[in-house]
Amino acid sequence: MAALDPSRIPLSIYLHWPWCVRKCPYCDFNSHRAPADLAALEGRYVAALLEDLEGWRTDAEGREVASIFIGGGTPSLMSGGALAALLAGLRERFPLAPDCEVTLEANPGTVEAGKFAHFREAGVNRLSIGVQSFSDERLKRLGRIHTADEARRAVGEARSVFENFNLDLMYALPGETSAGLREELEEAVASGATHLSCYQLTIEPGTAFAKRVPEGLPDEDETAEMGELVEEILGRAGFGRYEVSGYARAGHRCRHNLNYWTFGDYLAAGAGAHGKVTTPAGVRREMRRANPRAWLDAPLLGRSRVEESRWVEAADLPFEFMLNALRLLEGVPAALFTERTGLPLEAVAPALKGLREAGLLDPDPARIRTTRRGLDFLSDVQEAFL
Ligand SMILES: C[S@@+](CC[C@H](N)C(=O)[O-])C[C@H]1O[C@@H](n2cnc3c(N)ncnc32)[C@H](O)[C@@H]1O
Ligand code: SF4
Repeated sequence: MAALDPSRIPLSIYLHWPWCVRKCPYCDFNSHRAPADLAALEGRYVAALLEDLEGWRTDAEGREVASIFIGGGTPSLMSGGALAALLAGLRERFPLAPDCEVTLEANPGTVEAGKFAHFREAGVNRLSIGVQSFSDERLKRLGRIHTADEARRAVGEARSVFENFNLDLMYALPGETSAGLREELEEAVASGATHLSCYQLTIEPGTAFAKRVPEGLPDEDETAEMGELVEEILGRAGFGRYEVSGYARAGHRCRHNLNYWTFGDYLAAGAGAHGKVTTPAGVRREMRRANPRAWLDAPLLGRSRVEESRWVEAADLPFEFMLNALRLLEGVPAALFTERTGLPLEAVAPALKGLREAGLLDPDPARIRTTRRGLDFLSDVQEAFL
């Protein structure tokens, strides 16, 4: 294994907020209905996040933080004050890059007037709004807590406060047609958003939708057609597709997500959060306790908040790297493989050769990148590195 040099690897921070107003029937994120005493609990949660981050101090030594992502769950349930305390505490502990991207996820059902301005003052400079759809009927079928007009209000409020904001949209929804999707996309394009994340609805095991699959889901052909429509309409409107579900106006790709996809490092804190850090000795992954109360109360019970900490075995690194890098439409420079895994490119040479011959990877030896056909069969391509 070649020596790994952590100082060359960008560093991000992910903070997880595990509560939502209520659980959506399609969602398998680590998110839970908020307890009644949430307002009293948030100060404790913020203090615990900062305490949890302390565990990463040695790994982060001498490294600047390039991005922060506060995700969930629904972190927009936090008060402006709690968020300000969190970001101030973070700045005291870690040096942030002058242009550090700081994203917070917001649910349109949790946005009182003035709230986004407080988030901005606290240091958030990028908002990600879970709009999902601009159709009342589809929002209802998704079990969302907000209407289309509430989503529009949240978008308007975001536009007045942030230059940089993303909308999450879902497609291939129950009862959706291509004509309906087209209207959604046109509204998203006109919204002023700089970034759009368009996810195909997936029925995740263990969710309410898996127990009772909704009626009226588009079939496979219709879904594929919708996927093409998303790319075509957004592309024409100046939102370049750069990742499986990611579309951005020029200069507005999400730096935080780009760091995951280029196998960068990320410290993580909060219930169920996953972190990854590179040291000269190898790549280490850490997983926090998933249950919010168990994570919060662990130290009181004499336990660690970290449930698992392990070195990634060299044999697993190629697949983990490709799982991320191949999601990018431009792929990555071939040299990045060695920089981020410490393995020589020869470790994946047979798989690269086979996939190039099959027309699934770009023949350019200086890049690792899927072809169009490769992108259509992405999981097969990724599995070739197992
Ligand atoms: C943590 S949520 C974002 C913020 C906030 N919790 C909300 O829902 O408004 C992340 C995003 O993942 C997407 N998502 C969640 N479950 C999904 C599923 N089963 N299929 C497709 N997209 C999904 C949604 O677009 C959602 O906004
Ligand atoms: S609000 Fe977001 S995180 Fe919470 S359950 Fe719904 S989709 Fe999942």
